[in-house]
Amino acid sequence: MKNFAKKLMMIMALVPLAVSARVDCFVPQPQSVKVLKGATTFAAGSTVGYGAPALKPAAEYAAKALQQVCGIEFAVKSGKGSITLSVAGKKMAKGEYALSVSSGKASVVGADYGGVINGIATLLQMFEPGSGEVENVRISDRPLYDWRGMHIDVSRHFFTVDELKTFIDVLAAYKFNKMHWHLTDDQGWRIEIKRYPLLTQKGAWRTHNNQDQICFARAKAWHNDDLLLPADRYSEVEGEKQYGGFYTQEQVKEVVAYAASRGIDVVPEIDMPGHMLAAVSNYKGVACFDETGWGALFSSPVCPGKDSALEFCKNVYEEVIPLFPYEYVHIGGDEVAKENWEKCPDCQARIKEKGLKNEHELQSWFISEMEKFLNAHGKKMIGWDECIEGGLSATSTIAWWRSWAKKAPAEATAHGNKVIVMPNHRFYLDNDEDDADLRNIFSYDFLAETGADASLVIGVQGALWSERIPTLNRLFYQAFPRAFAIAEIAWRKPDGNFDAFAARVAGQMAHLEHLGVNYRIPNYDNFKVVRAFTDKAELTLTGLDKTAMTRYTTDGSVPTLQSPLYTKPITVSENTLFTLRNFHVGGHPGDVRSVRFEKQAYGRSLQPNGTEKPGLVADWYDYGGGVCGEIQQAPFKQRFTVDDVMIPQGASGNIGLVISGYINVPADDVYTFALLSDDGSTLVIDSRMVVDNDKEHSAIQLTGEMALSKGLHPICVRYFDHNGGVLRLTVSNSRGEVIAANGLYCHY
Ligand code: ACM
Ligand code: ZN
Repeated sequence: MKNFAKKLMMIMALVPLAVSARVDCFVPQPQSVKVLKGATTFAAGSTVGYGAPALKPAAEYAAKALQQVCGIEFAVKSGKGSITLSVAGKKMAKGEYALSVSSGKASVVGADYGGVINGIATLLQMFEPGSGEVENVRISDRPLYDWRGMHIDVSRHFFTVDELKTFIDVLAAYKFNKMHWHLTDDQGWRIEIKRYPLLTQKGAWRTHNNQDQICFARAKAWHNDDLLLPADRYSEVEGEKQYGGFYTQEQVKEVVAYAASRGIDVVPEIDMPGHMLAAVSNYKGVACFDETGWGALFSSPVCPGKDSALEFCKNVYEEVIPLFPYEYVHIGGDEVAKENWEKCPDCQARIKEKGLKNEHELQSWFISEMEKFLNAHGKKMIGWDECIEGGLSATSTIAWWRSWAKKAPAEATAHGNKVIVMPNHRFYLDNDEDDADLRNIFSYDFLAETGADASLVIGVQGALWSERIPTLNRLFYQAFPRAFAIAEIAWRKPDGNFDAFAARVAGQMAHLEHLGVNYRIPNYDNFKVVRAFTDKAELTLTGLDKTAMTRYTTDGSVPTLQSPLYTKPITVSENTLFTLRNFHVGGHPGDVRSVRFEKQAYGRSLQPNGTEKPGLVADWYDYGGGVCGEIQQAPFKQRFTVDDVMIPQGASGNIGLVISGYINVPADDVYTFALLSDDGSTLVIDSRMVVDNDKEHSAIQLTGEMALSKGLHPICVRYFDHNGGVLRLTVSNSRGEVIAANGLYCHY
């Protein structure tokens, strides 16, 4: 680490609490920690010993990780060492371990290989970065779930073998034990298939697409090179400089073996029958029609009506299966555009021949054919939860991702199927923070929300889709610290004590800083994008990471390390735009946020005259676009009356909503409006834009303020979504009291 000593001094100066004892900042928290008298110091010449030959890779991993954390070289030896790794002679649960440190030695006894790795992870967290000293302890610990997963999408943007190894090291340090490797998608086929070389020769490369353009635009706007596509990911393909990359089968084996040495099973996903553009566009007889490409939302899928297409899919898996020793394979099965199947004579003939009811059942038939094939090759199948829609096989495991399909997990478990929990509104870490923040992930009670049978929920998993993630630095920025909350709820039943968890997280962020693993400094508490005031107001910034440094500008420019440092609340008496940016103690920049302070008068209101009708008018348009301002250009579908700002029952699919009427506020005051939506929304009151939460995005809550006089003010919320969205407006007064929707809204 460059400048490590300097950084450490800065960390120590800023967070005195985090440096005394690290046994108070474990993530995840072990089940039982007994702190003993005294401490043990490991110095140069210390060793990691292994009690059985199978543990040699674990000892090598421990030595490498200890070197990174403590800065001390550990030699690896067979038999006992300064730190000794062994597998228990007595019975322990899968993944369980016992760690003891005393009398100058440490021992990690695991139930199995994974248990030993879990014990190493705990030991690593006990060291102060750069120090060889740890407190003497006795720890016994075991996981709640056997499936503690993290997904990585290498299709939308490509990650090298070395980057995957770094990623795997970080996962192991927090006791994740599954890596779901999303190897293929429409934007790039990333695994060599010898029988079908065009999949990688052509399918692994592309000229820049719209996802790349979003990354470039953000890199430019936010002055952030982590959003640029790395120069080493380009090649001359068909006479053109193209972006991409793929793994040879040897490289796949190398990654799988590396993960195994860190106790991590790798689950490959070759997504089918949709998301397979490289296959359908480079090989004949795979899609329904010769012409392939994009429909309204998704790409042309494989044709389940053609035997040649099934053969193709099986041939691909025949090469994939031997590369992955773990028992599970993920078949995908999400987001299939079925319009081609409706028109395709082969698909329709298959539906008839097999006595299927519709295209959903055709999808299930395809998935079940593939499952039979996988089972015959010794593998168990996982599928995304859409696989339920046309009937579910008795043996597959469901990865629940559609947070809006809340019944899917209970339906699956009622049928006897196992479930992995990874709903997009909480566990998709590539989504912006906001609604899916550390607190909401930590507090997320998926069993209560879904009613799934707990005995069939095998675990939880985070996801890192890479459309907007072109580099490992950006990947870690999206993942941490929120992946800590997933690690925690995968490992132990949450105790509900978020503040204690947050304090442990703060300690771990210092650890990440030391290891050079990027992370996002969590959002400021109670952040608002518009602050209204009538006389004076204060910019007050507080947040979880006390080491964070916020720099700001007031001229709209992007803050740099030279911009003024926020040190205490700033009083504002005029219209002011603050542009804010967090920097790590080491100087690495985060994203840019703005808050606009607006000096406002209370403005005029109407007074009720008794002809008001309760609620708001919600007009639904058949809108498929991505900007609130265009909703009313789409065909009108239906009018509803709603009690609150919400998606009316009965509106589904393409939704464009214009919700209008009056808000009846009870007193002159500055009101706060928190608008949560997936996708975009806007809130206008008295013709003034109060919250602009527009454009396509995951669930984001933006909060603005407005000074309003007692009485009625015209209000209009615009909102759109195409595939299972969220809309909520919370109104509170200047004392922070939420105002009930009942009686708040009216129309004429
Ligand atoms: C998914 O996010 N399409 C599984
Ligand atoms: Zn077809």
